[in-house]
Amino acid sequence: MNSINKIGKFITFEGIDGAGKSTHISNVVNLIQAQGLTVVSTREPGGTPLGEKLRELVLHETMHPETETLLMFAARREHLANVIEPALARGDWVVCDRFSDATFAYQGGGRGLDKAKFAELEQWVHAHLHPDLTLLFDLPPAIAGERLAAQGRLLDRFEQERVDFHHRVRDAYLERSAAEPQRIQVINANQRPDIIKKQVEETVLRYCL
Ligand code: TYD
Repeated sequence: MNSINKIGKFITFEGIDGAGKSTHISNVVNLIQAQGLTVVSTREPGGTPLGEKLRELVLHETMHPETETLLMFAARREHLANVIEPALARGDWVVCDRFSDATFAYQGGGRGLDKAKFAELEQWVHAHLHPDLTLLFDLPPAIAGERLAAQGRLLDRFEQERVDFHHRVRDAYLERSAAEPQRIQVINANQRPDIIKKQVEETVLRYCL
């Protein structure tokens, strides 16, 4: 499909591991529903039965960084075709926990792969569709690491990476937001949750509703 009749809005959430985006995703879903709109809440990698299988692999199996990148885009192609594009075409809104900015940040910044290759994959997989708004939850990796440790659960391959990896991911996200300041709105995630909630809601209302 080269173009879709898009009516609903496509909002993505990004940030380093431990930035605390999950509760804010639920709040935004509630906010959109409160306007009488239908919203699909989904995530990457994942969002489809095949995508969730690919998620298991990329989060837990050792692999070459380029294999990791290609699997992210493979899961994304499936997700776009089966979930995101049909939802937007129906006029629904889509709220997605991570999208292609995560590949630029993690596989580009974190793993150090050539971002020009990702631009080609992005062109291939979703030239026609980009998020209307991206909320980037930003905070220092040391604080995010403390939050992850406090959760006391088993960490995936990305969460287990050293702090310098997370610094590179954060820098790549900020670089991308500097290049697209209108689409990518940076939220300071090192604040009280109620303050973050208010800023997130104001941003969504200002840019999308
Ligand atoms: P995450 O979204 O943080 O889920 P959870 O809240 O369940 O931990 O986990 C997904 C991980 O996948 C995260 O560490 C970032 C990574 N990731 C990439 O490396 N590249 C990508 O393109 C995407 C979408 C995610």
